[in-house]
Amino acid sequence: MAKKDFLSLKNLTKHQLLDIINIAQEVKAHPQDFIQFFSGKHVGLLFQKPSLRTKTSFYLGAQQLGAASIYYGPQEVRLGQREEIRDVSRTLSQYLDIAVLRTFSHQDILEFAKFSSIPIVNGLTDLFHPSQIIADILTVTELKKDIKKIKFTYIGEINNVCNSLINAFSLLGGNLSIATPEQFYPSQETIKKIKAKFAETGGTFNISSSPEDAARGADALYTDVWFSMGKEGQTKHKEKIFKNFQINDKILEKAKNNSIVMHCLPAHRGQEITDAVFEGDNSVVFLQAANRLHAAKAILIFIWEK
Ligand code: CP
Ligand code: NVA
Repeated sequence: MAKKDFLSLKNLTKHQLLDIINIAQEVKAHPQDFIQFFSGKHVGLLFQKPSLRTKTSFYLGAQQLGAASIYYGPQEVRLGQREEIRDVSRTLSQYLDIAVLRTFSHQDILEFAKFSSIPIVNGLTDLFHPSQIIADILTVTELKKDIKKIKFTYIGEINNVCNSLINAFSLLGGNLSIATPEQFYPSQETIKKIKAKFAETGGTFNISSSPEDAARGADALYTDVWFSMGKEGQTKHKEKIFKNFQINDKILEKAKNNSIVMHCLPAHRGQEITDAVFEGDNSVVFLQAANRLHAAKAILIFIWEK
């Protein structure tokens, strides 16, 4: 049987995505039932960028499932610099049972996965952040029940987090509205393809350059940083373009009274979100952070199950 990687949500079927969410719910409700799951196994974390939540969730999550964890920080392995990706991949396959990677380029994780004989988990790349979105779907499901019956709005840059949200909502048949500056829209062809994918599952996809329109009547508002890791250099010019794409009181007023405000974190208060909204009653950002642990455990279990 071929190894099962977790590289992007777009590689999953709807059934597989729901399966991971179910496992996460089960692991969260009954953690004791899973403490032997990876007994005697070894999970390695190889990260090219900093991390608080993803590192802790997979490191601790693996241990809570009975495995031993090992972490390689950005300066240790220097993937592709000190040693070729394919050589690191084949070497680690000799010691580990699963590897979680955080790379700059998505191409690098694909290359790594191609040469590894063990399952590889995406802990964030420039293109996708699928483990984050498992935690987010878990959070939304806990708070809003049926994801298909809500309006979910993302305001900000179409980045790795947003790409994975698009993948998840298109698989699940959700209603996703995105507000981003027009010059940062995907191509018309890509938008057409995304819409077609949503239509297949009965969902809807909207993109606009008006955060107010996108937020109107929303059940959930989500944002992420304007400058992702590795892209911090794009500063002032981009800051000007994105300054209206902020979740603030004015935007929150447009959403439903009981709407939830989400952020994958780390947050930059005063840029994509105001301090008042971040700290306000609608904010569920630390429930999202808590759910990262259960999501990480679910992903590890999912890829291990035949
Ligand atoms: N949300 C998230 O992935 O956080 P870290 O970068 O701290 O892991
Ligand atoms: N888009 C952000 C997410 C951080 C968890 C980044 O890539 O830096």
